[in-house]
Amino acid sequence: MEMKILTTISDLQEERKILPEPVGFVPTMGFLHEGHLSLMRAAKKDCASVVASIFVNPTQFGVNEDFDSYPRDPEKDIELLQTEGIDLVWIPTPEMMYPLGYQTWVEVQELTSGLEGQRRPGHFRGVTTVVAKLFNAVQPQKAFFGQKDAQQAIVIQQMVRDLNFNLEVVICSIVREPDGLAMSSRNVYLNPAERQAATVIFRALKSAEKAYMNGEHSSSRIVEMIENIIKTEPLTRIQYVSCADVTTLEEVEGQITSPVLISMAVYFGKTRLIDNMIIGG
Ligand code: PAJ
Repeated sequence: MEMKILTTISDLQEERKILPEPVGFVPTMGFLHEGHLSLMRAAKKDCASVVASIFVNPTQFGVNEDFDSYPRDPEKDIELLQTEGIDLVWIPTPEMMYPLGYQTWVEVQELTSGLEGQRRPGHFRGVTTVVAKLFNAVQPQKAFFGQKDAQQAIVIQQMVRDLNFNLEVVICSIVREPDGLAMSSRNVYLNPAERQAATVIFRALKSAEKAYMNGEHSSSRIVEMIENIIKTEPLTRIQYVSCADVTTLEEVEGQITSPVLISMAVYFGKTRLIDNMIIGG
C-alpha cells in the first residue's frame, strides 16, 4: 500500500476513518533515526495500521532553545516511513495547530515540577498540549513513546489517565549507538570531539548500575559517582544528575528501596543531551 502524506486536519480525519483498527500512532518531531524507527516497528507489530506525525512543535521550545535550528529533513523522513510500511504520515503546519487566537493549554502538574520540567519551564505544557491535540485528531487505540524521554512518557501516561483518552500508551526502550550514546536528533549538533566525549554518559550510567548491583544503594553516592565519571571529560557541563522514584519522579534521599530513574542532562559544548536508566526494578 502506498503511504499517504497529509497536511490538514480534515484530510487526516477523513483518511483515519477508513484505517483498519487498532490504529497505532507515533508522534515525532522528524529528523528520524533508529530510535524513532523502533517505535514505528513496535506499532507495526502491535496494530493493524500505523499513523506517524512529524511536527516540530514550537510551544515546547523555550525562547532561548533551538526551535529555529532544530534539524529537519522531511523528504528523508518520508522515505524512511515508507520503508517501514507506515500507512499515514501527518505533517501539519504551525498555523494549523496554533491558529491566530489559539488559547487552550493542557498541563500536568506535580510530575512536571522536577527534572526536565524544572530546567525547561513551559516545555511540558507545550508537549502535553500538542500531544492532546494530536491524539484528538488521530484517535489512535495505541500511542508509542520512547523511554529516552522518560519524564515525557510518564507525563503523557498521566495525561491519558486524567483526561480519559481512550488509548493505551506503550513505552519502548532506548535505542543506542554502538558506543552507547542514546540516539537523538540533536546528536547532529555535536562536533567530533564532543561526539566522542558524549560516550561518557552511558559509561557513567553503566557504572552506576554495576555499583548498585554490587550493593551500593545510597542514592547520593550513586549520583556522586555518575557526576565524577562525567567530570573526567573536560568538554562537559553537568546540568543535573537525578535519582528519582520511577512513578512519582520525586528525588530519592537516602537508600534506594524501590525502582529509581537515574537521569541527567549534560552539556557538550552548546549541545544539551539527556539520558536515563532505571535501576532497582
Ligand atoms: P522526538 O524527540 O522526535 O521523539 C519522538 C519519539 O521518539 C519520542 O517518544 C521519543 O522518546 C522517541 N525517541 C527519541 N529518541 C529515542 C531513542 N534513542 N530510543 C527510543 N525512543 C526514542 O519527543 C518528541 O519528539 C516530542 O516531544 C513529541 C512527543 C513528538 C511532541 O512534540
